Amino acid sequence: MIFLILQLLFLTACVSGTFVVNVTQTFYQAEENQNITLEWTFSTRTDTNFSSISTICHLFNKKLISILFELHEGVETRVSQDPEFTERLQWDKDVLTEGRLTFHVSRLRTKDSGFYVCDIHTSDGSSSKNCWLNVTAALNRAVQG
Ligand SMILES: *[C@@H]1O[C@H](CO)[C@@H](O)[C@H](O)[C@H]1NC(C)=O
Ligand SMILES: *[C@@H]1O[C@H](CO)[C@@H](O)[C@H](O)[C@H]1NC(C)=O
Ligand SMILES: *[C@@H]1O[C@H](CO)[C@@H](O)[C@H](O)[C@H]1NC(C)=O
Ligand SMILES: *[C@@H]1O[C@H](CO)[C@@H](O)[C@H](O)[C@H]1NC(C)=O
Repeated sequence: MIFLILQLLFLTACVSGTFVVNVTQTFYQAEENQNITLEWTFSTRTDTNFSSISTICHLFNKKLISILFELHEGVETRVSQDPEFTERLQWDKDVLTEGRLTFHVSRLRTKDSGFYVCDIHTSDGSSSKNCWLNVTAALNRAVQG
């Protein structure tokens, strides 16, 4: 765990001048069972292709650090992915080379709450950005209404 944190700090420190990673939103608020779209954007060039893009995205919450998504030179690897996300996470392959790393997470759970960090590496450099997700328990509308 300490290694991962150091690795993230190291990657964060290696920000090259031209390569930028952004998040479209820094904070997301949602309710249990809803779906959500989380998006990171990054600088690309006209020749940016799948094989020049590697990413690793982590979820940090109170109890653990888990791997949300991993792409190695354009190839998705689910080996270390948290099984919690295997069925619930989808990403948009079509927009990756345009500089958009977009995730759709369905059926949110309160334990998806936390700090999401994506490290993105391309031939122009590497950088990372984070956002927060707060998933609250669904209100029991039947009882309330
Ligand atoms: C990142 O955000 C900055 C400031 O909002 C903006 O100027 C820049 O174009 C963005 N870059 C990318 C790659 O989204
Ligand atoms: C993919 O991008 C890399 C880095 O920009 C480049 O060197 C390589 O030639 C590109 N490959 C293809 C098939 O376009
Ligand atoms: C949430 O996503 C799931 C799986 O992609 C889909 O079946 C469901 O219809 C979506 N629900 C809403 C409210 O969009
Ligand atoms: C998450 O949302 C709930 C309900 O809006 C709020 O009470 C709580 O303070 C939020 N937690 C964080 C960490 O923002």
